[in-house]
Amino acid sequence: MRVDTWFITGASRGIGRAIAQVVLQAGHRVVLTARRPASVEDLTRAFPEQTLALPLDVNEESQVRYTIRRAVEAGFVPSVVVNNAGYGLVGALEELTPESILRQIQTNLLGVIWVCQATLPYLRSQKRGFIFNISSIAGYFGFKGATLYNATKFAVTGLSEALAQEVAPWGIYVCSVAPGPYRTDWAGSSLDKAPSLQSLDPHSPYYDLHALMAERYAQMDGQQPGEPTHIGQVLLSCVQMGWAPKHLILGDEARQTWEKYYLLREFPELQFVGHSERAPRPA
Ligand SMILES: NC(=O)c1ccc[n+]([C@@H]2O[C@H](COP(=O)([O-])OP(=O)(O)OC[C@H]3O[C@@H](n4cnc5c(N)ncnc54)[C@H](OP(=O)(O)O)[C@@H]3O)[C@@H](O)[C@H]2O)c1
Repeated sequence: MRVDTWFITGASRGIGRAIAQVVLQAGHRVVLTARRPASVEDLTRAFPEQTLALPLDVNEESQVRYTIRRAVEAGFVPSVVVNNAGYGLVGALEELTPESILRQIQTNLLGVIWVCQATLPYLRSQKRGFIFNISSIAGYFGFKGATLYNATKFAVTGLSEALAQEVAPWGIYVCSVAPGPYRTDWAGSSLDKAPSLQSLDPHSPYYDLHALMAERYAQMDGQQPGEPTHIGQVLLSCVQMGWAPKHLILGDEARQTWEKYYLLREFPELQFVGHSERAPRPA
């Protein structure tokens, strides 16, 4: 069996941890990166020969480069990269703080860029490799109250699609992974909220939207239909096949969203305008 070295960001919990568990059980090696390496101690104890745990906050570009150098020096040269670290920022755009907006872009988008830049030289030199960028179904469709999350995930989807073409000559596959709802802390302790959503401020012009969202996230947390280890199994099968699609839509809910918007041609407000046609008229 060919043994791969996976480099996973945000391996402490949720989808990142689940992917790590699946690939470790299959006999592969994993660089487990986490903001708090203590959070992956159980995995390093259970798989001492196959793991290397390193601290990494993907918001820090210099830390990303340093961490990847340390992994390579320890003999853990990545052949599969999983850009998983990320979280949701929700609430009406008007009411998000500048700090929370910057942090969302830093983690969900810039973190992915720093890791791709720092790992690509190693994948290219092996003339083989996989980069799985964990986008979201929210990287394909906009949802009110999730503008910034949508913006970062759309960016990850676009970046992945373009990068896939750029690095294909080296046998490297780049895949935008778009899960629907999976059972993690995403809708719970990890979720960042606009202050007026957090406090359900009755004076906010977005009170109705925020009340709806607060109820939706409370109901969703811990009840999501998706089981995170299934994502690990899908990514592992791609690597074992030696091929990955440019886009992976994961879970029944994500599929239903696609069917609703694309396959059933209900993409809202879409019009094609060619040069020979007149300006579109309102429906
Ligand atoms: N669960 C879903 O339904 C779903 C659906 C679509 C997409 N996703 C995406 O899947 C990815 C994983 O989320 P999850 O569902 O597994 O949520 P989660 O359980 O909240 O896990 C989030 C992970 O990201 C890490 N993280 C956050 N900011 C980081 C940073 N600056 N540097 C390094 N690590 C950081 C967290 O580390 P700490 O433990 O240190 O906080 C944690 O390991 C995210 O990109 C998310 O947007 C999730």
